[in-house]
Amino acid sequence: MSDGLAGKVAVVTGAGAGIGLAVARSLADAGCRVVMADLDPSACADVTEAGVSVAVDLGTPDGVAALVETATTRFGGVDVLVNNVALAPYRDTFTAVDDAAWQRSWDVNVMSCVRLCRAVIPLMAARGGGSVVNIGSEAARHPKPYLVDYSVTKAALLSLAKALSIEYGPKGVRVNTVAPGPTRTSTMDSFLAALADRLSIDIDAAADHFVNEMRKLPLGRMNRPEDVAQVVLFLAGDRSRQVTGAEYAVNAGGTASV
Ligand SMILES: NC(=O)c1ccc[n+]([C@@H]2O[C@H](COP(=O)([O-])OP(=O)(O)OC[C@H]3O[C@@H](n4cnc5c(N)ncnc54)[C@H](O)[C@@H]3O)[C@@H](O)[C@H]2O)c1
Repeated sequence: MSDGLAGKVAVVTGAGAGIGLAVARSLADAGCRVVMADLDPSACADVTEAGVSVAVDLGTPDGVAALVETATTRFGGVDVLVNNVALAPYRDTFTAVDDAAWQRSWDVNVMSCVRLCRAVIPLMAARGGGSVVNIGSEAARHPKPYLVDYSVTKAALLSLAKALSIEYGPKGVRVNTVAPGPTRTSTMDSFLAALADRLSIDIDAAADHFVNEMRKLPLGRMNRPEDVAQVVLFLAGDRSRQVTGAEYAVNAGGTASV
């Protein structure tokens, strides 16, 4: 069975770096025309030959509207939507997170997805169906106090995906979640740099310490963005045509629960 992605229109949020950039590359390699949205899309240049990049703040209604407008005017609709953008600020204590900080995390991590799904799912249904993939996190089911608002938003995305999968399955729109564990992106590198400093070792040794001593990841290796992108690609295309409302963990076996 082919993945059926050649010629499809795919929207990827937070596509300027890390997992989003790897997802956009994989979809482009599969033949999609990719609409890549980011505050800073400069890194998207080498993937946009058959697509386009848009500089928008996805935490605002206007940013989301501009993205949808670009996808529809340039390509006439959307077949695949990957809601990847998120903020994951480290918090010292719960009480230090004020209303404005909660609101910003909610707007970027949840409302970007809500607004995009509201605009795009009817377009997918009008084309006979489509695939939405939300990038969650292991923090949804294993909340971290130092990522308190982030963890809450990722739990909310799970509920949203399940509700949408039930409502829109009959219209041919599938909605799934990919929940990464630790993944070597710039966010992770900042954390590893701080760990390296604390332990007086280099960053690769800090990564090794994190994987094998702190997290004890069964596969003994941290995700690369491409590892997450491959699972997104599966969920975006026809090979997963019977899969909806599901959550795929990509975490080297790092969550010990049934
Ligand atoms: N890296 C990890 O270890 C990890 C683990 C679990 C889940 N995730 C999830 O994977 C996804 C991607 O994470 P990442 O580490 O690749 O992120 P990243 O920080 O490397 O990249 C995020 C991108 O989003 C863009 N962005 C941020 N705010 C924006 C806004 N308001 N509007 C438009 N663009 C904006 C940034 O410019 C950046 O290019 C997120 O949903 C994250 O929660 C990551």
